[in-house]
Amino acid sequence: MNKHYDVAIIGGGIIGMSIAYHLAKAGKQIVLFEANEIGKQTTSAAAGMLGAHAEGEGDEDIFFQVGRQSQALYEKLTVDLQHESGIDIRISVGGIMKVAFTEQEKRALCRMQHLPTFEWLEASSVKERMPQIADDIVGAGLIEDDVHVEPYAVCRAFWQAAVRHGADVKEFTPVIDVKRGKETLTVSTAKGIFTCDHLTVASGVWSGRFLEELGLSHSLYPVKGECVSVWNNGPALAHTIYHDHCYIVQRDSGKLVIGATMKPNDWQAIPTLGGIEAVIHKASQLMPSIREMPIDQCWAGLRPATSDRHPYIGKHPEDERILFATGHYRNGILLAPITGEIIRGLIVGESVHKEWLHAFRIGRKEALFV
Ligand code: FAD
Ligand code: GLY
Repeated sequence: MNKHYDVAIIGGGIIGMSIAYHLAKAGKQIVLFEANEIGKQTTSAAAGMLGAHAEGEGDEDIFFQVGRQSQALYEKLTVDLQHESGIDIRISVGGIMKVAFTEQEKRALCRMQHLPTFEWLEASSVKERMPQIADDIVGAGLIEDDVHVEPYAVCRAFWQAAVRHGADVKEFTPVIDVKRGKETLTVSTAKGIFTCDHLTVASGVWSGRFLEELGLSHSLYPVKGECVSVWNNGPALAHTIYHDHCYIVQRDSGKLVIGATMKPNDWQAIPTLGGIEAVIHKASQLMPSIREMPIDQCWAGLRPATSDRHPYIGKHPEDERILFATGHYRNGILLAPITGEIIRGLIVGESVHKEWLHAFRIGRKEALFV
């Protein structure tokens, strides 16, 4: 038998690592088990947009409130993580230019016009700011707060800072099984058996089997996303270009990240030629010059989706010792800080918005997303 911990976490993607960081910083004894390498699954596939406006259904949605709060947390985290880990998470300026090609798309976008964080720009103004953009746009909504970060850098920064606060992080240590004793929880891994007072399931799209074993029904499924990156041999993009699930994001290195397909129920995290072709086709309608840019690489990742596209964050309804944080779908990078704060709040006894816990509880009636 190995050491006893306050909290064990299954999964070392950005969600598990944020939870480890927030709890270790609050003085809890933490162990995190990662089956492979930290942050190398879905987290590394992400573009890193903090798309609270761009990815939501409007500002009345709960996603918007939670997303905005998480976006705000990144401001302080950038400084704290740099100090505690020495890693720059490369938060960008410029935000997202959400493009409209038709009057109907313009009307849909302008539903956000009452927000001080949204500015509608006619095509000529967009062109002035971004000469690379396609000629046939009607205009675009500029959302400067929807900045982006480098997802793997954020995950690594959480990791290094969590370790600095005393967390034990065990790579190449898949969790095999969890047993619920009266006094304690027992976690069996490929590298031994551990006990803990609390357990958090944060293993992304692979969380389903643990939820089932713990008696929780869920709708988790993968939505594969394929991406390609190119070397930008023209002027740097001042803003991320975004239209209908397609985006072009400028990295500091000079690369452009171009994404992404949406393939439900595909468990193979490998890009296909057809998928990459579709991404290039859509992106070159937004920015024709990308066709001339040298290819860097292609990749794919599995978004952990639920039927209503909201995550599961909270406690097991019948066993307070078990928590879960998964199903972050297209927005795990955006939502990582707030998820870490919510789970910390539930474990250390801080107050957490009841409305959020209600919206993200497991076992809710999930309206089918269309
Ligand atoms: P993961 O990163 O997959 O981590 C889960 C970890 O659990 C894995 O490392 C896995 O190895 C581990 N694990 C599994 N089983 C076990 C086990 N038995 N024992 C131990 N460990 C285990 N989000 C944004 O906010 N902005 C974006 O711009 C964005 N772009 C995206 C683009 C693409 C193409 C894709 C695919 C996703 C994008 N996302 C984006 C979504 C985001 O990447 C995910 O929501 C997020 O990475 C989920 O993080 P996670 O920690 O839950 O999962
Ligand atoms: N949020 C971007 C994506 O999931 O592709």
